[in-house]
This record gives sequence, structure tokens and C-alpha cells, in this order.
Amino acid sequence: MTVTAIIAAAGSGERFGAGFPKALIQLGGSTLLEHAVAALAPIADQIIISAPIGFEAQISKIVGDGVIVVSGGATRSISVRNALAVATGEYVLVHDAARALASTELAKTVIATLKSGENAVIPGIAVVDTIKIMGADGYVASTPDRASLISIQTPQGFKTSVLRAAHASVQEASDDAVLVEANGEKVKVIEGEERAIKITTQADLNKALAFLGFDSTYRTGIGVDAHAFAVGRPLWLAGLFWPDQDGVEGHSDGDVAAHALCDALFAATQQGDLGSNFGTDRPQYAGASGVALLQETLAIISKAGYAIANVTVQVIGNRPKIGQRRAEAISVLSQALGGAHVSLSATTSDGMGMTGEGKGIGAIASALVFKQ
Ligand code: CTP
Ligand code: MG
Repeated sequence: MTVTAIIAAAGSGERFGAGFPKALIQLGGSTLLEHAVAALAPIADQIIISAPIGFEAQISKIVGDGVIVVSGGATRSISVRNALAVATGEYVLVHDAARALASTELAKTVIATLKSGENAVIPGIAVVDTIKIMGADGYVASTPDRASLISIQTPQGFKTSVLRAAHASVQEASDDAVLVEANGEKVKVIEGEERAIKITTQADLNKALAFLGFDSTYRTGIGVDAHAFAVGRPLWLAGLFWPDQDGVEGHSDGDVAAHALCDALFAATQQGDLGSNFGTDRPQYAGASGVALLQETLAIISKAGYAIANVTVQVIGNRPKIGQRRAEAISVLSQALGGAHVSLSATTSDGMGMTGEGKGIGAIASALVFKQ
């Protein structure tokens, strides 16, 4: 009896709002997608990930050989279908990358229930709120008995032929069980788990961090950096290249905003500073980009058991003007930090000091982290 695990990871994460796909958001040191793969790998003979278009190669690199990556589609159902097309298992589990913390145990129970003779098995948990059906007029139409209501999770398990038939005839629904029900199949409900929550917003991510044992002991850190202008060098600032601007002195790309952020994160987590982490004993970081340093900083602090609550950085200088490219810069910095909440501001110093005299650019950053 062979099992294919399909992981739907092609969503854009609109409601999370990181500016890049939700499956690539960091949760305690690895991405949501990696958590999902790790949970299903022990029970699957084949794993297929449906990836956001344009992110296939990046995702392949993250999950490594042995995992098939296909392109997703405009809806979850299409994304699942694209993976189903190459599934070889007799049974298939369909799982949301967004339910990163669903356990291997849950997947095992789904499979065991399929093997006992069911064609479709889904995990569900009791709802805590009273649920009402509201009419188009804004009035309550009816109130179903709460005892019979359940909230549905993934992984959902199916006999592969049954799921294929359902996808062929029904096409669109918010999950696979709905397609199978619509195709006239009986769907067995088993007990789900609290930790299999769907991570939709930042608040859900915090809840997931609590499941991983992160507590709410917050720590802060600050970091400062400054570099003098150097005519003829390219300018990198806040993770972006700024054409037609003079760059700054330095061995690295001289991205003072990124460097200040790294130092703030190292300070908050008691992991030393830029010099002690990327100094002479790690020469491979001598010329590294600000983004690469942020990525490595995230890896270091994650290993030490910290997660980022938020970071802020303020650029101090007469030029370049940050405002018009603020959103772009925040997106790049946030992605380098695994989807962390980033703020970016800028100021001049009223003609005083090195940056006010136009001799260079400075940055000051703060970081808030919490510990596992
Ligand atoms: N999904 C998918 N293909 C789509 C849309 C969603 O594979 N076209 C996946 C998501 O990656 C996610 C799961 O389906 O793992 C559940 O979707 P949801 O939680 O809604 O994720 P997103 O669509 O990414 O989030 P949002 O709706 O906020 O944009
Ligand atoms: Mg969605």
C-alpha cells in the first residue's frame, strides 16, 4: 500500500501580508513548508509540493532531492490537481503547508483509517463558538446544533482513484473533502488536533510559536552603523540597489541598514555582534551582501532558540530619499528575515554631524525577539 503526500503550498499569503508566499515564512527556524514536509516524510512513499509559480526552483532547493515540485494554480483545487496528476500512490494525503504543525501521528491515524476500508478520511475538531447561518438580508436564517459541528483540518486522506474522480467531475471547492462529498462519497471524520491550526495571520504564527514552546519573554537589542560615501562605488541600502547614487566605503556592500539590523538582532539575542559573527574567522562573509548577512543572522539566532517579534531601522542621511522605495525595501528585508515584521524610516540630521554634512549614511535599528 503506497501513500503519496501532496502539500498545497501555492497560495500567496495575502492575509498574512509578508509580500512573499506564506509557505516560505519562518516558524522557529524553518519554513512552514519544511515543517509540513518533515511531518509527512516518515509516512509517505512520494511527496509532491504544489509551489507558487516562479518559486519552484527556490522551493526545490529548500526541500531537497526526493521531493517533487510542481507549479500550483490560481485556486487551491487547481494546485492540488496539478500535483495529483503525477501522484503514484494508491492512497493520497492532501495537506496545507499553512497547517505546518499537524503531527506525523495525525497523518498516521488518517492512513490507518483509510487502510481499515474508508475511501475518504478527514480530521476535525469541535467548534467552540456557536455558528449561525446568516441570510443575504443580514438576519440569522438558522442555528445548527453546535454538538454536530466540526472544524476541518488537513491532512485529508483519500483512495487516490476516489480523489481523482472527484476532481475530474467537481473542480472547485475550499478543500478536497467537499469535492469528494459532492461526488457522492462517504467521508469519515476522525479527531483532529489543536496544533494543526491553519496559519493565516501574524497572530496565528504567534500561536504556532507557542505550540513550539516559545514563551513571551521578550528581549530587545539595538544596532548602529555608518559608512562614508565613496564616489564611483555602487550604493546598496536597505537591501536595495540605488542606481545613480554614490556608494559607501567598506569591504562588504556597505548596506548600513542591513548591518544595523544584524547588530540589533545579535544584541537582543546575546549572540555577539557583526564583527564577532562575520569577522576574520569566517572570511566567506567578507564581501557578503546585506541581505545575505541578514539571512545568516536569522539562522544564527534561530539556532540559539529565538524568533523575531519585529525589527525597525531608521536611515540617517541627506540622500537617497527612502520614501518612494520604502515598501520595496521592507519586502526585501522581511524576506531575508523569514517574513519578520519590518519597519523602515529615514531622517536627516539638520546639517549636523557626518551624515548631515553629506559625508555618508548612518542607520540605527532595534529588534524585539522572543525566546523558546
Ligand atoms: N493554496 C494553493 N494554491 C492556491 C491557493 C492556496 O496551493 N492557489 C494553498 C496555500 O499555500 C495553503 C493552503 O492552500 O497552504 C490553504 O490556503 P490559505 O491558508 O488560504 O493560504 P493562502 O491562499 O496562501 O493565503 P491567503 O488566502 O491569505 O492569500
Ligand atoms: Mg487562500
